[in-house]
Amino acid sequence: MRFDSTLRLLQPLPRFPQEVVREEVSQCRVPCAQARAGGPVHRAFIEALPQAWQDDPDVEIFSRLLWVRAGWYPMSLGYHCDWAAPSGAPGDAPRVETLMANFGGCTHTEFIDAPFEVDDLPPGPSRQRAWGEELAARVARGELRTTRLPEGVLAWFDNAAWHRAMPATETGWRLLIRAIRGLEPSRRHDGQSTFTSVRNTFRPTTPEEEARYAPYR
Ligand SMILES: [Fe+2]
Repeated sequence: MRFDSTLRLLQPLPRFPQEVVREEVSQCRVPCAQARAGGPVHRAFIEALPQAWQDDPDVEIFSRLLWVRAGWYPMSLGYHCDWAAPSGAPGDAPRVETLMANFGGCTHTEFIDAPFEVDDLPPGPSRQRAWGEELAARVARGELRTTRLPEGVLAWFDNAAWHRAMPATETGWRLLIRAIRGLEPSRRHDGQSTFTSVRNTFRPTTPEEEARYAPYR
């Protein structure tokens, strides 16, 4: 099975200091007009979107403000695709496009930036996990090119783009804002819920850290 996995870096965006980033309000999959209330960083992001996206009432803005220590992970570990089809096959769901930007830096999501093929395993969650582990091994062997999301750049990817969290390179605030376009009606936000999740993940690396972390597994 073939995936055309890529991250396209489009254009630089205004940069904001930590004192501004930390005052923004995370947005839970709301239309562009509503997300402007998130603060000046959200407004700068929305104004950088193509006009067709800004005018599309079905585009959802989803953002997470997060404070991380150097070495923390901003989400669960492992390669995955956003908005993959339930089957996991790239052709089984309409294309869902995302425009995203990282404000504040700190953590830089790693995308596989090359087409690749994987074995056609039986569908299900274990297939996604097995593919993710296979991709991590290939990346470790230097067989697949990767690109990390830099700070302050508008970037594009779709639901064939495999990516994973990377450990924070510095301590501070990070605001990841994305615009999502192309969701099927059944997968769009219900317009009611204001719940959003924030995930920090710590991965012990030394024997001492492993021992201290063991009770939390
Ligand atoms: Fe993701």
